[in-house]
Amino acid sequence: MELLELIDISKQFHVRSGGRRATLSAVDHVSLTVRPGTTLGVVGESGCGKSTLARVIVGLHLADDGEMIFDGKQVLAGKRRTPTELKRMQMVFQDPSSALNPRATISESIGFPLQVQGTPKAVIADRVAKVMHDVGLPAAYASHYPHQLSGGQRQRVNIARALALQPKLVVLDEAVSALDKSIQAQVLNLLSDLQEEYGLTYVFISHDLNVVRYISDDVAVMYLGQVVESGSAQELYDNPKHPYTQLLLSSVPTLDPAQSTRDEPVDSIDSTEIPSPIDPPSGCRFRTRCPFAMDVCAQTAPPRITIADDRTVACHLYADSALPLPHSQEV
Ligand SMILES: Nc1ncnc2c1ncn2[C@@H]1O[C@H](COP(=O)(O)OP(=O)(O)OP(=O)(O)O)[C@@H](O)[C@H]1O
Ligand SMILES: [Mg+2]
Repeated sequence: MELLELIDISKQFHVRSGGRRATLSAVDHVSLTVRPGTTLGVVGESGCGKSTLARVIVGLHLADDGEMIFDGKQVLAGKRRTPTELKRMQMVFQDPSSALNPRATISESIGFPLQVQGTPKAVIADRVAKVMHDVGLPAAYASHYPHQLSGGQRQRVNIARALALQPKLVVLDEAVSALDKSIQAQVLNLLSDLQEEYGLTYVFISHDLNVVRYISDDVAVMYLGQVVESGSAQELYDNPKHPYTQLLLSSVPTLDPAQSTRDEPVDSIDSTEIPSPIDPPSGCRFRTRCPFAMDVCAQTAPPRITIADDRTVACHLYADSALPLPHSQEV
């Protein structure tokens, strides 16, 4: 069984564009699954909807439409959300310092969400000490303030705070993107160790393809609010199917995170031509940048087809590659 299942999740924003009201489709019918104890990487250029999706998952945004099943329970149906499950999901954000109260000590910061829940003081103290140890923060730091810590240490504090609530799912939104490469590698290793020790499931969001490959079991590639391709990290990186994934990967200098020189591989693609999610292209949203665009691409949005086990692609080039439906499902 999956730990998390997203079914046709959509989220729009009502914005003003050129003085007029407009609807911005930030997440458009996204369906994804995450198996327990694994990491789903979500990758795509700036503005493709990664953070919006993350916020919908943990309940910081209400979805407009769609369904979400978490740990066997339906927690979201259209605009209805079950709040009781929220504490089993935690989110870690990009900026390690802005997420922390500068006037709270490290132990207060980590213990605060537990305090809000009314957890007894002794339990909080034990739990804080354990998670600090588990994320590699010396006990002496308990009484320190955020400004006394490095960026990497502050991100460890944020991870500890998420873990203190004993979540099943942790959504990491660009959680290592602000860190130096060497620190990035340490925090990624820490996340892998914690995943094993705590049996955690991750949704790991980044625009950095190297980092995503390093940590993910499965990967979903987003473009203008939609998932264009998904599959196991190994297959997707070894044999990208969607022209957009191919474009992203062709711009990555090296797949070894320790040797990566460019900070933002995805953003290094010429992104001046990315269409706006306010007025996306007809048919396939990627067609205006696609070297293989055909007439049909302007007319019909390509369905996301399953081309192999756990491997999907939304592209007309693969229209004939769809796996046949199991016999029982044929009409
Ligand atoms: N609160 C909001 N109000 C209006 N528009 C928003 C809001 N949040 C996001 N958007 C728009 O939704 C789209 C998706 O944004 P989102 O932040 O989810 O992208 P992202 O993939 O996380 O980008 P980045 O890599 O830069 O973090 C963008 O066009 C963005 O401008
Ligand atoms: Mg974002």
